[in-house]
Formats: sequence, C-alpha cells, structure tokens
Amino acid sequence: MRLTDIPTRTYRSYYRALRALACMWPFENSRSLIYKSLVKKMGHNVVIMPFVYCIYGTNLVIGDDVFINTGVILEDAGGICIGDGTHIGCKAILMTTDHRYENDGLKCIELKPITIGKNVWIGANTSILPGVTVGEGAVIGAGAVVTSDVEPYSVVGGVPAKKIKMRKTGRSS
Ligand SMILES: CC(C)(COP(=O)(O)OP(=O)(O)OC[C@H]1O[C@@H](n2cnc3c(N)ncnc32)[C@H](O)[C@@H]1OP(=O)(O)O)[C@@H](O)C(=O)NCCC(=O)NCCS
Repeated sequence: MRLTDIPTRTYRSYYRALRALACMWPFENSRSLIYKSLVKKMGHNVVIMPFVYCIYGTNLVIGDDVFINTGVILEDAGGICIGDGTHIGCKAILMTTDHRYENDGLKCIELKPITIGKNVWIGANTSILPGVTVGEGAVIGAGAVVTSDVEPYSVVGGVPAKKIKMRKTGRSS
C-alpha cells in the first residue's frame, strides 16, 4: 500500500458505507437526507423506499417529487438523470454500463448515460438499458426491457419494449 492510497480508500469506504446505510435505513424522512448527501443532486419531496441501491450515487441526479419504490437498482456509473414527478416501480433496474464483448475478455466497458424525462411512470421489474432516453410523460409497462429511446407520452411494454399506445393526456399524438 502506498501512502497516497489512503485518502482514496477512505473516501471509497465512506461512500460504500453511506450507500449501504441509505439502502437499509428504516425511517422515511431521514433516509432521503442520507441519499441527499450521497447523490450529485436531489430535488424536494423525494421519496425513496427501503432497499433501493445505487452503485455509485455520485453520478445520480434526482428531480423534485420523485418516488422510487423498493428493490430498485440504479447502476449510475455512466450517469442517471431522473426528471421531476417520475415514479419508478419495484425492482426496476437502470443500468449505464456495457461490456465491449467483441474481443476476448470483458474488461473494456462503455458508459452510456440514462435520461428519464419528467412525469414518467416506470413499471415494476423493468430494465432500462445503457444510453436510453425516456421522453416526458411516458409509461413503461411492467416487465419491459427498454433497449431504445421512448417517445414522450407513449406507453411501451414487452421485451424488447415496443409502443402499445399513446397517453390521452400527452401533447404528442
Ligand atoms: C402498461 C400498463 C400501464 C398498461 O395498462 P392499460 O392502459 O390498462 O393497458 P391494457 O391493459 O388495456 O393493455 C393494452 C395492451 O397492452 C398490453 N400490455 C399491457 N401491459 C403490458 C406490459 N406490461 N407488457 C407488455 N404488454 C402489455 C396488453 O396485453 C394489451 O394488448 P392487446 O391490446 O394486444 O390485448 C400496465 O399494463 C402496466 O404494465 N402497469 C404497470 C404496473 C406496475 O408495474 N406498477 C408498479 C408497482 S410498484
């Protein structure tokens, strides 16, 4: 171990402990405060249920009035931005890392940010893949695997996710 490793290791351990604490903290209001100290930016009136885990936290931006239900995993290495008023259902996974698999081995990774617009409803058990942008007001049906961008105010579902219909309240038709 080199002397110069000490601050980095301490820093990493601090964040690791904070992420685990936030995930398991039993009290609603103070849980949000722990996340606030962990993430890059967090708005007002955010509710994060127990057992939500962010892999880094430091690359996560959460808007106002966001609700994140239990069991959600936010793999934010490449950056995740969640718009105001968005709801994320139980056990959704948002992932921002792809392995470059063309050559031998999997050590080479590619980071692609995920952007979730305002007032999006992400159903339970969904997977949002690296680089996806979900437009404002869209609905992602339960169990969907979202491999490409989602049109604003559309309702999508399935594997891979396809458009089912448009929301009646949507601005686009
Ligand atoms: C996507 C969803 C909102 C659509 O609800 P809806 O507007 O009432 O739509 P309908 O039930 O009328 O279904 C319309 C069509 O979409 C299909 N569909 C509905 N939900 C689907 C889904 N999750 N995946 C794939 N297809 C779906 C239906 O089979 C139907 O197809 P058909 O016209 O060929 O018969 C809803 O089905 C859903 O998935 N809700 C998420 C629930 C959830 O995860 N809650 C979070 C709790 S933490």
